[in-house]
Parts: sequence; structure tokens; C-alpha cells
Amino acid sequence: MTRKRILFTGGAGVAGKHVVDFLIERGHTILNVDLKPSDNPNVHNIIADITDSGQMFNALSSYASFDELSPGNGVPKFDAVVHFAAIPRILINTDNETFRVNTMGTYNVIEAAVKLGIKKVVIASSETTYGICFSDGETDPHSLPLEEDYDVDPMDSYGLSKVVNEQTARSFQRRSGIDIYALRIGNVIEPHQYTELFPAFFKNPEVRRRIAFSYIDARDLGQIVDLCLEKDGLGYQVFNAANDNNSAVIPSKELIQRFFPNVPITRELAEHEGLFSNRKIREVLGFKEQHNWRNYVKAPQK
Ligand SMILES: NC(=O)c1ccc[n+]([C@@H]2O[C@H](COP(=O)([O-])OP(=O)(O)OC[C@H]3O[C@@H](n4cnc5c(N)ncnc54)[C@H](O)[C@@H]3O)[C@@H](O)[C@H]2O)c1
Repeated sequence: MTRKRILFTGGAGVAGKHVVDFLIERGHTILNVDLKPSDNPNVHNIIADITDSGQMFNALSSYASFDELSPGNGVPKFDAVVHFAAIPRILINTDNETFRVNTMGTYNVIEAAVKLGIKKVVIASSETTYGICFSDGETDPHSLPLEEDYDVDPMDSYGLSKVVNEQTARSFQRRSGIDIYALRIGNVIEPHQYTELFPAFFKNPEVRRRIAFSYIDARDLGQIVDLCLEKDGLGYQVFNAANDNNSAVIPSKELIQRFFPNVPITRELAEHEGLFSNRKIREVLGFKEQHNWRNYVKAPQK
């Protein structure tokens, strides 16, 4: 494992803070770029707005802390950028503002990284790109399980912003040859949320249909980001970021029969295997989940 100097956008947010904690525990140095500071005392902060290109070029070529002044060798280059800052769903800001902040913010961060010679960028995309999460009415996916080669087609401004961001990433990767990996992140679950939320999911499984019953433990998301930082040379990649199983007690086959009866199934699934598949991160990055929900909350008896 190499200790890296990482610029992390959105490290004060719900998902970002757990990922940052994981990366710090792994020995990496983090400069958080966000509208607000991180509450982790081991994180350095620069307050900056991702929608301002000048601020991104500045932040990405900045000292990470006062300690870095001591050697007198000038500003070191970041080894990697992890970009999480965003408006994280519809119905927080207006649709056009969500689209503007997410797409321009991502453009600015990736452009600055590429033009400053940073060799690795990991960006937060979303499972909403698959187009069922924020669709009008109850819609079906084209096929199940949801895997990375799916023709993504969301009908909402947030999902669309993430599809555009993936294209932005692909375009800059093609031009520069660096590694840019986009993580289609599932519903992020913080450690305290298992007991808070899961019993209600078991009672009313239909509330999880729009996210294809997926979840990603916030700490396991940290492992996925760390694996992306370790694994070089893959060029442009999209990875689903999810845990191994569904956030449901009902087996996968039954979930499909009950909630997606008309959807074609493209391959055999293990008993509880996630309909939002994490096969690619397991096979390509060597992801091994540490935080299955069954470790934290008891499944109800049938
Ligand atoms: N939480 C989830 O379930 C989930 C699921 C899929 C994808 N994602 C994606 O993961 C990332 C993190 O999500 P989150 O849940 O932690 O969201 P969050 O809102 O908790 O965190 C986002 C962070 O980005 C910062 N930010 C927002 N606008 C900014 C701007 N203009 N300039 C600088 N910083 C700005 C916020 O201050 C905040 O700290 C987002 O890209 C989101 O779209 C999250």
C-alpha cells in the first residue's frame, strides 16, 4: 500500500466523511475541498466552490497543510483526486441548479486535475443513472441485474447530471490517458442507520424498489475508493458500488417475481445476490465486503 496525498471534494458530506475516515486510517493525507469543513481533526480543509473553475485550479495546486511549507521544495503534486461534492439528489435545489452544480462542478474538477498533471481521478456517480430511482411513476429496468454495460437513461435532472459527468470523465480520460473511474454509488448506509432504517425496509420492501433494493455500507464505500486509488492503469471505468446482497430479507428470485415480473433476467443470481450488481468491483478491484447488514440487524423470522 502506498500512502497518497489526496484532494477530496465533498469530504464533509454524509458519504464523504466515512470515506475520508477510511482513507486516513489507511495512512493517506487528505485535503478536503468543500463549502464547509470536515469535522475530522486529521483532515485539512480548503473552503471552495466546485462550480468556480479558478478556485478548482487553485485548490488542486495548493499546499494541503502548513507542514508542507517546511521542506522548502514548493507545492507537492496531488497523487489523486476523489470528487464527491455535489447536490446529492432531486428536490433539494431546483432541477436546473442541481444539473448546473453537478455537471459544471465535475467538469471543473476533472479539467483542473488533467491540466495539472494529476494521474488518478475517482468521481461519485450514482445508481440513479439506471433510471428507475427518480422516474415518473413506477418504471421497469430493461434487464436485471443492473450491471455497468446497461444503456443508462434517467428522466430526472440529478440522474442526468451523473450520466453527463460520466461522459465528461470519459472524454477527459480519452484526451489525457490518465485513470478516471466513476463509481455508481448505491444508497449509502451509515453505521447507525441499520437499526434505525432496516426494520421498516423489511416491513415494507416496496419502498426499496426504486433503488433495486441496493445499499452500500459507508465504510465499505471507503474500501472501494481505496481500491480504486490502488489499482492503476484501467483508463476510463464505471463501477457499481454496492454490497453483495439486497437490503431485503426476501431472496432475489422472489424479489424479481414480486416487484419486476416483466423484466428479463440476464444471468443466474445467488440466493440474496444484489439486483444492483457489485460483481465488477469484486472481480476487477478485489472488493470484499466487510459490513453486510446481517452483522448489524436481525432478519425477522418468516
Ligand atoms: N448518499 C447516497 O446515498 C448517494 C448515493 C449515490 C451517489 N451519491 C453521490 O455521492 C456523493 C456524496 O453524497 P452525500 O450523500 O455525501 O451528499 P452530501 O450532500 O452529504 O455531501 C455533499 C458535499 O458536497 C458539498 N458541496 C455541495 N455543493 C458544493 C459546491 N458547489 N462546492 C463545494 N462543495 C459542495 C456539500 O457541502 C457536502 O459536504 C455525491 O456526489 C452524491 O451524488 C450519494
